[in-house]
Amino acid sequence: MELLKEYNPYLEYKNGELFLEGVSLKELAKEFGTPLYVYSGSFIRDRFNAYKEAFPDALICYAVKANFNPHIVRLLGELGAGADIVSGGELYLALKAGIPADRIVYAGVGKTERELRDAIEADIMMFNVESRQELEVLNELGKEYGKKVRIAIRVNPDVDPKTHPYIATGMRKSKFGVDIREAEKEYEDASRLENIEVVGIHCHIGSQILDISPYKEAVEKVVNLYDKLINKGIDIKYLDIGGGLGIKYKPEDREPTPKELAELLKPILSGVKAKLILEPGRSIMGNAGILLTQVQFLKDKGAKHFIIVDAGMNDLIRPAIYEAYHHIVPVKEENREKVKADIVGPICETGDFLALDREVQRMERGEYLAVLSSGAYGFAMSSHYNMRPRAAEVLIDKGEVKLIRKREDYDYIVVLSS
Ligand SMILES: Cc1ncc(COP(=O)(O)O)c(C=O)c1O
Repeated sequence: MELLKEYNPYLEYKNGELFLEGVSLKELAKEFGTPLYVYSGSFIRDRFNAYKEAFPDALICYAVKANFNPHIVRLLGELGAGADIVSGGELYLALKAGIPADRIVYAGVGKTERELRDAIEADIMMFNVESRQELEVLNELGKEYGKKVRIAIRVNPDVDPKTHPYIATGMRKSKFGVDIREAEKEYEDASRLENIEVVGIHCHIGSQILDISPYKEAVEKVVNLYDKLINKGIDIKYLDIGGGLGIKYKPEDREPTPKELAELLKPILSGVKAKLILEPGRSIMGNAGILLTQVQFLKDKGAKHFIIVDAGMNDLIRPAIYEAYHHIVPVKEENREKVKADIVGPICETGDFLALDREVQRMERGEYLAVLSSGAYGFAMSSHYNMRPRAAEVLIDKGEVKLIRKREDYDYIVVLSS
């Protein structure tokens, strides 16, 4: 298959010009300006449906943190998604975007009392509790509200997901969840709390998992715990195995599919009566989106060639913090001389790069580049660093181009701080 289509089947060159879902990216860049995030609605639908087909009886709770644009959350909600949230802000957004409260699960190690109260008042499906103290506070709040608060305990199965250490969450030393070896006791104690209803087990081992074998080990441990709890009379209704499926960033990456994950887990889950919950983020949104950026200047410094673009680490921070690779292609592809370049942003940090020593066609000032695989943890992790307004976002869906987030202006930022 043509490389571009391995990233996103709706991406293609026509007469040397890059199109997404039949829409010219050059025209979008001209109309909406750059940096510009562009998402493909068809890709989002396909990915969500692939999860539904692979796990027909499961609830797919989209991990809102990957991309919290309300239009995207609404689109996924309409397809039947629930939401995996990690803050009061995400709760507010998920409800606003029409996700029913009984499809919302709430993880996070540092939920504030205000956030806990908001979620209790909204009557969400369950809290994925990360500590003994959180459980105790929920019990107290449940008493105050005259409710039993539904919870799962996030267990930490101590499995190496073989991903970047910053996004490995299921190892013993990480701050997340409770040690699976202590989980049985935690569950017994939780089930005795008057205003707590134990309904589930939660685990999430990490993100950008390309080799899916660690899921097997993690889910085996979780099912082992499930069996023990059921035998003790603790009624586990939900088994939430988190998100984490990896996506293609490098040309040589091979993405695992939801179907492969389902096949791997089928024998392990065959005796489990609980409803399965998955929390994918990146694998739905990552390759749905690209970041369009315009070349500002070209410069040579000694042997180094720099392509300086208008998207910086404030727009896409992944290369700076994870040394992440993003494939970058020209919007206008021509048979030109190839150069090796550092593609860098305008921010005053040496770490502000999109790619280092990357072979690309020689670019000219004013031309556009498309940074692939930018739909997840792209805009969501963007900031105002160097007082840069955040980018606009566009969704192409069913033949329509929709501006789903306006570009910020200076006043917006200044008003925010006054
Ligand atoms: C608890 C939880 N669930 C789901 C996700 C989503 O992971 P991914 O985007 O890799 O699918 C994360 C990501 O950090 C998470 O912390």
